[in-house]
Amino acid sequence: RVVFLNGAFLPADEAKVSVMDRGFLFSDGVYEGVGILGGHLVDNEPHLERFERSMREIQITNPHSRAEWTRLEEELVRRNGVAEGFLYIQITRGVAERDFMFPKAVDPTVMMFTQAKSIANSPAAETGVAVITVEDQRWRRRDIKSVSLLAQVLAKQAAGDAGAQEAWMVEDGFVTEGGSSSAFIVTKAGNIVVRPLSNAILPGITRKSLLRLSKEAGITLEERLFTVQEAYDAAEAFLTSASNFVLPVVSIDGRPVGDGKPGPLTQRLRHLYLDMAR
Ligand code: PDD
Repeated sequence: RVVFLNGAFLPADEAKVSVMDRGFLFSDGVYEGVGILGGHLVDNEPHLERFERSMREIQITNPHSRAEWTRLEEELVRRNGVAEGFLYIQITRGVAERDFMFPKAVDPTVMMFTQAKSIANSPAAETGVAVITVEDQRWRRRDIKSVSLLAQVLAKQAAGDAGAQEAWMVEDGFVTEGGSSSAFIVTKAGNIVVRPLSNAILPGITRKSLLRLSKEAGITLEERLFTVQEAYDAAEAFLTSASNFVLPVVSIDGRPVGDGKPGPLTQRLRHLYLDMAR
């Protein structure tokens, strides 16, 4: 496997980063993840746009233009021959003596790798996944795609320990989002409900495309907060992310959603998304 590190394409086991890297010491960095389908990056432009915003928000100087990022991403996908999967990009503030304040004149550490993974025909898409709810223990700038993911690691491990695939995080009784995905429900009236964008959630790129596709298909969509109880009572539920596209949620905290099978509207949306991504 070939990875990209600070301007070079290298075998993964030769790509080394200093122990003094601020990503390692402080989680002082941001990342992005893009789906790959048919050898192409899905929704790459909005992903790079969000990545640029994350860098700005934490004051890391972006070392590459949009066109350069794209060229580097595409070259890595090509070198690894990934037809379907995930591209990970990370930038940290760089290597410096440990000090909380930003170091001066330090180059950021830039790293990318790919993962081959079946997304379009994943078994989880057929069966749906189980989620559990957990308290949202994260900081207040969840709109930044920070590499500081300890709260999500613990939330998703709790899900795994409970035999579930994702954790839906809850704040003041309302679902914020999944550990690494956006959370949606479908009401018994057939309306899609999703939390509006704010500092409380990551602005999901798959979420954004899904909203556009549902509008085009004339499906009623409500951007508002929803409670855990509303999720229990929903007709359908699903999650979206660059690494899973649209995935049906068939149980929440062990209670079946609807009839406990992937819902018809969810499946329709999944196919609309796949047609768009192809
Ligand atoms: N996670 N919310 C959170 C907290 C996420 O980490 C992600 C993505 C999403 C979905 O965003 P998008 O549709 O842009 O992928 C929502 C990625 C896949 C990850 O960390 O692996």
